[in-house]
Order: sequence, then structure tokens, then C-alpha cells
Amino acid sequence: MRGATRDGALILLTLVVALPRLAAAYPNGTGEYVTDAGPFCAGCHSSRQESQLREMPKEHAAQQLVDGKHVATITKGSAPYDKLSEPDRATLIAQIRAVDTATTITLDAPKTVKAGAALTVTAKAHGGAGPVVGVMLLDADLRYQARTPAAAGWMISGAPAVTGPDGKPQTTWTDKRAAGLAKNLNYVMVYGMKGDAVAGTYGDATVAYALQAPSKPGDYTLAAALLYGTEKACPLATVKRIGFDLPLGGFAGASGRVLFTAPRTVTVMP
Ligand code: HEC
Repeated sequence: MRGATRDGALILLTLVVALPRLAAAYPNGTGEYVTDAGPFCAGCHSSRQESQLREMPKEHAAQQLVDGKHVATITKGSAPYDKLSEPDRATLIAQIRAVDTATTITLDAPKTVKAGAALTVTAKAHGGAGPVVGVMLLDADLRYQARTPAAAGWMISGAPAVTGPDGKPQTTWTDKRAAGLAKNLNYVMVYGMKGDAVAGTYGDATVAYALQAPSKPGDYTLAAALLYGTEKACPLATVKRIGFDLPLGGFAGASGRVLFTAPRTVTVMP
């Protein structure tokens, strides 16, 4: 009996200690998944472009887009947005749209490269709520099917070189790789990003990927994806916690985003 009480207390204590970590894990990024990643993992996020879901039925795509998945729940005032008055919900929607309009991702890549040659492709991200954004280098601009370009023979030859919003090199993400593992990842989380929909100020980050071109000549595509949040850039949807903020829409809300660059065709020459 006493043992059971002690076990119960221990479980409770573990929960209390573990919960804030868990709560900080998805909004605020996925701090532990320091590995190659694809955008399919972000099931809760809303898609910024219909083209990300072009292989899916139209109705499915509509459900995943910002309007259908995120904004509609705010307009309706469904829980947890029922806490806000109708005018506040309209203000919040305007601010969320401002974050989306401001947030961009681009990918610079050469049009041609010799088979097996070294090259650098650079993703530039602007915006998002912060405190982090996620950048992925991919073979296509498809939310459910894009994968690391390594699968098509591009070798990511070193740790992605991140320039943080302070303009300085940032190795926070790749420093988290376990000892002995290579750091040549296609996915990076950039720290120190801060978006403010009211002030209209946002962070910038650059991720440069050192690559070696495939050995087989032909046309290949590369794309970059940006994973970011919107609600924590809006005062009406920022829930303060000790040490971190949460989006009002919650852990499983649709306030995250998946945004792709257009696919860039790179011709690998013999
Ligand atoms: C359970 C739902 C859920 C899943 C699954 C999820 N996310 Fe998110 N994520 C969110 C929410 C909600 C936000 C938006 C926070 C906001 O609006 O401010 C977010 C935001 C982010 C951000 C930006 C940080 C922030 O708080 O603004 C990154 C980076 C991110 N997610 C990466 C990922 C990756 C990578 C995966 C897959 C491994 C993933 N997410 C899966 C819910 C999820």
C-alpha cells in the first residue's frame, strides 16, 4: 500500500516534470528529431499551397490548406477559439494572414552542374512566429512524398551551414547530433527567430547545403520547405508559460505551416 502510494507519487512527479517538456516539443519545434526529415511528419500543420497536395483528391487538399484547416476554426469560434470575442477573432485572422504573407522561403541552385561535382544550394527563410523555424532540403515540393535529395544521388557532403537571425553562424542544431554521427542532415531547426505580426517584424535565416551532384546525368529537381508557426506572432493567440509560449490553438492545432519553394530543375551534365 505504502509502496503503491510512493509509486503513484513518483508517476505524478514524473508527469509534472515531463509535461512542460512535452508541451514545448511540437509548437516550438521538434528539438529531439535531429535527423533527416520530410514534411509529412507535420500532420497538424496547414499547407500554404494547393500544389503540395496535387496527387491527392481536391477535397483533401482543401482540408489541408490554411483557410480550411486553420482559419475556418477561428471564424467559427470553435474551441479553443471560443475564448475570443468575434471582433478579436477577426483581428487574429488578419494578423495570422499578415504572418503568412510575410513568410517566405527561397532556394538558390545552379541550373547545371557536372556529374559528381561539388556545389552549394542555399535556402533563405524569412518570417514565422518563432522561436524556431524548420528548413528541409527535398527532392520535390510534395507535402506527403518529398524526401531527402540523397535518395536521388545528391550527397549532402557536410553539416548544413546556418546563418541565424543575428547574422552569425549557428551550429545549435548540428551540435545536438549524437557523438560519432555525421552531421550532413537535410533538416535543420534555426533558433532565435522572432516574428511579431503587430510590429510587422520578422527574423531571417540562411541554410547553405554543401552537395555533391549525382553521378548519373539527367534532370533532377530540388526544393526547400519551411515549417513555421503563426499564432505565437499574434498577441491574441499567445499563451504564456514559464520559459516558453504556446499557440492558443494548442498542441494539436493547425497554426503550423508547410511552405515550399517552387521545385528547381538542375541538369546534371556528363
Ligand atoms: C501534434 C501536432 C503537430 C505535429 C504532428 C507537428 N507539429 Fe510542428 N507545430 C505544431 C503547431 C501547433 C505549431 C505552431 C505554433 C504556432 O502557431 O505558433 C508548430 C510549429 C512548428 C515549428 C515552428 C516552431 C513554432 O512553434 O512556431 C517547427 C519547426 C515545427 N512545427 C516542426 C515540426 C516537424 C519537423 C514535425 C514532424 C516531425 C512537426 N512539426 C509535427 C504542431 C505539430
